[in-house]
Amino acid sequence: MTKKVLTTSAGAPVSDDNNSISVGPRGPLTYDNHYTFEKLAHFNRERIPERVVHARGTGAYGTFTLTKSLKEFTIADFLQNEGKRTDVFIRFSTVGGGQDSHDFARDPRGFAIKFYTKQGNYDMVGNNTPVFFLRDPSKFPDFIHSQKKNPRTNLPDPRMAYEFWANYPQALHQVTILMSDRGIPASYRNMNGYSSHTYSFWNEKGERFWFKWHFKTNQGIKTLRAEEAAVADPHGTQQDLVEAIDRGDFPSWTAKVQIMTEQQARDAEVNPFDLTKVWPHDEFPLIEVGQLELNRNVDNYFAETEQAAFAPSNFVPGISSSPDKMLQGRLLAYQDAHRYRVGVNYNQLPVNAAKCPVNHYQRDGAMAGLCPAGGHHHQTSGANFYPNDRDDGPAPDQAVAEPPMPVEAGAWLDRFDTDEEDHYTQAGNLFRIMSDDQKQQLANNIAGGLGQCDASVQQRMLAQFEKADADYAARVAAALKA
Ligand code: NDP
Ligand code: HEM
Repeated sequence: MTKKVLTTSAGAPVSDDNNSISVGPRGPLTYDNHYTFEKLAHFNRERIPERVVHARGTGAYGTFTLTKSLKEFTIADFLQNEGKRTDVFIRFSTVGGGQDSHDFARDPRGFAIKFYTKQGNYDMVGNNTPVFFLRDPSKFPDFIHSQKKNPRTNLPDPRMAYEFWANYPQALHQVTILMSDRGIPASYRNMNGYSSHTYSFWNEKGERFWFKWHFKTNQGIKTLRAEEAAVADPHGTQQDLVEAIDRGDFPSWTAKVQIMTEQQARDAEVNPFDLTKVWPHDEFPLIEVGQLELNRNVDNYFAETEQAAFAPSNFVPGISSSPDKMLQGRLLAYQDAHRYRVGVNYNQLPVNAAKCPVNHYQRDGAMAGLCPAGGHHHQTSGANFYPNDRDDGPAPDQAVAEPPMPVEAGAWLDRFDTDEEDHYTQAGNLFRIMSDDQKQQLANNIAGGLGQCDASVQQRMLAQFEKADADYAARVAAALKA
């Protein structure tokens, strides 16, 4: 086989890649070494900022196949016809650790899906848990700081996490999931995915429905006990996913939705837009709607997985947000992060680019490209302002207008303290459906970190467990003593 010729990044053939030009064999280098300088300069720029959360992750491509039409609820094109297949890119991640942290950390797992629909990209940026620690986005930086390393020692510090949780009982439901056996999935293939948030569908008649996504693993839930995770390969989940896809053992998930009418939401006892709560299955049963399969690995981890940019604000006609305060915070945060982390034209990179025409009046910026195929990159159009008289100037389409979103009549603009809400019933419900072994694992996992905290934090956490279920508190207290 003839080897390809090595070139500069500008495509010019290179004669020697091992020896820089020097003044004699023992002399210094000269300015003529532009080839060496190019290599060194590019090397200095190989890193981009890692994601501030979810820095460690694994991505792959696949397909979403609709098995039940959702036409009754939404005009979203990819949810209309049974059998419709939509390309997806999924990135799984851990949350708190940096890029080089451990795959088997006790941590929620990110479950982010980009659906490349013909009406644009729709992103479902969820986790492997149906709820979250908070219900107000302003607490997100505080919470994440409590999960990160101690700012002085740069060491993991479980005392910070429990100190935050002791002061913030609304986190208890998610803490219970995190500390349960499901807190360390055995692989990304063996966990569920949830939108966690409530989103909205709207249909042709302009009727709105609230909904949540559930992606149930077809491989079954498998988890690691704390002692197994402690000796597991730090790259274990990355390796597991890549190797499974390479050998044709394609992982899949059954997609389900829970749906609530606007009236049901008004009547609901529990706030349906509170991210610390689930919608009970018996009241809002899961409706099976599709199959999600991963079947192709990335060709280049950095270009695709690292530069992938998911945003909860990437909606398509027929799907939108909800009054969930956390979701509202997220609608702003992600694109801001992408502009900082990847650059203003991040949506032009192949992994992020829509697989449909993209026409708008944004112009230029760092690394703006002209995409020859598919006309993605719009800047060939002469029209660079709107309104205009040009035939080639894109115009808005009223047909995709979202119906107005209802808000509480006569509501006041103010800060509302939700701290008196019930933080405990659903955490207790989860505890009560656990087997004896799961309850004991939960208590032991909590005692591992809480045992390092001072007495005041321990007492406040025990009081929270007590309010969820007396046996929960008793087991943690016993584990702390042991
Ligand atoms: P159900 O008995 O109908 O559902 C219980 C759910 O809990 C199942 O989806 C099950 O998932 C899941 N589950 C079991 N063990 C764990 C664990 N250690 N960590 C996380 N999830 C677990 O009851 P309800 O709908 O009334 O919910 C009861 C409690 O179950 C809730 O308070 C919540 O904590 C938890 N839960 C509820 C979900 C919901 O959307 N309603 C979703 C997930 C959890 P699987 O089917 O995969 O085994
Ligand atoms: C990643 C912010 C809550 C799931 C991120 C990133 C930011 C962020 C800035 C990095 C984005 C990037 O650089 O590409 C926030 C804020 C939140 C919040 C401000 C609350 C107000 C949540 C919740 C979930 C979630 C509740 C799940 C339900 C994810 C996932 C990723 C992520 C899965 C990784 C996406 C990927 O793989 O690229 N978040 N987040 N986040 N977040 Fe959040």
